[in-house]
Amino acid sequence: MRSAKVAIVGFGTIGTGVARLLLENGTRIARHTGRPLELVRIVDTDLTRPRDVVVAEGLLTDDLSKVLDDPEITAVVQVIGGLEPARTIMLKLLESGKDVVTANKALLAEHGPELFDRARQLGRSIAFEAAVAGGIPIIAAISECLTANQIESIYAILNGTSNFILTEMEEQGSDYAATVAEAQRRGYAEADPTMDVDGSDAAQKLAILAHLAFGAQVNWREIPRVGIDTVDPTDMRYAREFGYGVKLLAVANLVPEGLELHVSPTLVCHGTPLADVRGAYNAIRVKGDAVGRVFFQGLGAGQMPTASAVVADLIDTVVGRMAITFRTLDLWSDQREAPVALRDPAKVPGRFYLRFRVDDRPGVLAEIAGLLGQQQISIASVIQHETEPENGGIVPLVIMTHWASEGAMTKALAVIDRLPCVHSGSIRMRVRD
Ligand code: HSE
Repeated sequence: MRSAKVAIVGFGTIGTGVARLLLENGTRIARHTGRPLELVRIVDTDLTRPRDVVVAEGLLTDDLSKVLDDPEITAVVQVIGGLEPARTIMLKLLESGKDVVTANKALLAEHGPELFDRARQLGRSIAFEAAVAGGIPIIAAISECLTANQIESIYAILNGTSNFILTEMEEQGSDYAATVAEAQRRGYAEADPTMDVDGSDAAQKLAILAHLAFGAQVNWREIPRVGIDTVDPTDMRYAREFGYGVKLLAVANLVPEGLELHVSPTLVCHGTPLADVRGAYNAIRVKGDAVGRVFFQGLGAGQMPTASAVVADLIDTVVGRMAITFRTLDLWSDQREAPVALRDPAKVPGRFYLRFRVDDRPGVLAEIAGLLGQQQISIASVIQHETEPENGGIVPLVIMTHWASEGAMTKALAVIDRLPCVHSGSIRMRVRD
């Protein structure tokens, strides 16, 4: 039987995983495609680096034209990180008649409209299941399986590196910098882990999910985001006292006033499924008006979970399913219905965890409570442990509030942080019950 000839561009961690799956699981894959998938080219600028897969002599090349100019190659896995040359190469692949599979969420978050438009003009497809939450089939779930629903909300842990670091800090008391280095060593983190820990990676993924689920046309940079680089082990200990864990939560919540979008370290109530997500795992809780709540969990980073999603997309592309999905989804297109309005971030409500370092003297709590009250913010509970003499009479004061808007909280904290009895900046995290 005639094989389907495919190529990989980018022979790094993910490209190596994809090659391994194609070579080691060939028989199973052929059962799904109805014919063998034959890996005929791998393109990378580095021809010598050792990889943990053995490929046939002559397969690896640094010459992209060997793929572009081969009309028998119709589907290409493009797993180069970063924006350039990834963008230019994707355009070249589309223009030379290839359907493309990618795992590069930064590229889609940044250049999605241009790339998808070009693919449509050329009658080609771009598949990107691996771009969000690695091995979890969330793109297919939202864009195919749940399409009968109005999606109402998405609460998600979308960055495996951050979840790994938070878990290690919480359970082992591990040092932050050492844990970032370990996440890099295990292949979870981006080449520049800043994007992982400052919330950018999760915001890019949330922008893609918000487009798929709600039609939101949002630049990921406009999504309010706070990363885990602001989380102190002290806050994790207090969170535990209140019965919560700390997670980097990406939220898309549709309310009558518009779509609320934000990424931030959030106290998540122990005993809820999101609080139990440990290590490099990702999780996504989707609520649809017909289906109710659906919970997905799996590895969102790493070589083989990501390769699993890439190869599934490749199979869909080769059998022709992806062309139909791509056409009917009409992503990032001007022809789609009017985009949903985004809700003013200052109006987004929630409960908050606050920590202050304050003078240990009468009246301080009343003063802070009064300023919160002026913004209609009500206190739910307070922790203040006895001070050690060496702390110089400064104590941590930890407060959980009832519901308040982000804007009211910002106003209250701006005043509280200037009080003479309050030392250094306050800490604020959202709370999810
Ligand atoms: N660096 C990402 C993460 C994986 O840690 O989740 C790729 O999206």
